[in-house]
Amino acid sequence: MKTMSAAFEEGHANRYISFADIMHEQFMSITTRMMFRRGAGAHNQDFIKTMIEITSADFFLLEDFFPLLKLLDLSGKIKKLKMTAEKYSDIMESIIDNRLKEKTNSKSYNEEDFLDVLLAMSDFPRDQLKYLLLDIIIAGTDTSSETIVWAMTELLRHPNIMERLQIELDDVIGKERLVEEADLQKLEYLQAVVKETLRLHPGVVLGIPHFSKEATKVAGYDIPANTRVILNLYAIGRDHKVWENPLKFDPSRFFNSPINVKGQHFEVLPFSSGRRICPGMNLALVSVAYNLAQLVHACSISLPEGLTHLDVDVEEKFGLTVGKQNPLNLLITRRLASDVYRKAGLNVIGQ
Ligand code: HEM
Repeated sequence: MKTMSAAFEEGHANRYISFADIMHEQFMSITTRMMFRRGAGAHNQDFIKTMIEITSADFFLLEDFFPLLKLLDLSGKIKKLKMTAEKYSDIMESIIDNRLKEKTNSKSYNEEDFLDVLLAMSDFPRDQLKYLLLDIIIAGTDTSSETIVWAMTELLRHPNIMERLQIELDDVIGKERLVEEADLQKLEYLQAVVKETLRLHPGVVLGIPHFSKEATKVAGYDIPANTRVILNLYAIGRDHKVWENPLKFDPSRFFNSPINVKGQHFEVLPFSSGRRICPGMNLALVSVAYNLAQLVHACSISLPEGLTHLDVDVEEKFGLTVGKQNPLNLLITRRLASDVYRKAGLNVIGQ
């Protein structure tokens, strides 16, 4: 985890880092590497900047409800969104062109990435390709990074839960090596922490609007045809009729419980449900659990001097996803012996 080395570099120099920024970078890097292997290459910095502009843009447009206003663009938001879209499009054009050039030069890699797969489908129009990639980057980055930020926030607010998780990790992994993906299924408490985080803090609060093609009845309510249907995933996970003490962060409620977060149990639907369920769900569950496990097992994490667990707040910032309003600044240092990181190929500073 390159991010971990960067966090240690700051931490061992006694500098606090914005946890949200470092997690955003981590998940942007994971997602873009899956899409196009080495991130955005030469365009990496521009690309990340443009993606931040896109994900933090204000998509609520009055013009969507009063289309005639579109011509006036009174707020200037449409112009701004178009400029950002053009920037994204230009960077993607050059990434695609470079890839096509590599292919004609017969430069080959052992592993295909998503861009290779899409380019092999010769009838896939380039614009669709660019915006499909954008869709996945937007859908996969902040949702996952904010889930980790919320998980860490709750762990820091509840030192007893953090301690229990750390004990589980030390018992199962030990202190001589880092967590590996294969360990995840043995980490029962970690899985419960992830589920409980997604129950209380589902990244996508209102799902994606759906549209009823036919009239139907849901839980006794009539839904007419051609209705825009919005699921309040946030309220579902906090329903006091279903959950005892719903605002309490308590991972143990998922012990010996048949309820999972994969869309079959309507008590908690962070990935929504049915045919339009999040296609990245399985990936997200693994990558969130894995990254969280790494952080808690391999890092010593402290709040700024003078703050205690009582000072960590859960104020929310509503946007495309729901992030934490106030920054979580942390001091992150090594928790294990330096050799353990080196053996795992991590470049850590100092002894
Ligand atoms: C903790 C992380 C994540 C959460 C909480 C989450 C949640 C959701 C939700 C609630 C939806 C809306 C489903 C609906 O329309 O009913 C959705 C859609 C989507 N998600 Fe995720 N997601 C996460 C991670 C990911 C990842 C890692 C990827 C891919 C790399 C991804 C790709 C997508 C895509 C492409 C859609 C749109 C699907 C469509 O248009 O039908 N998501 N996600």
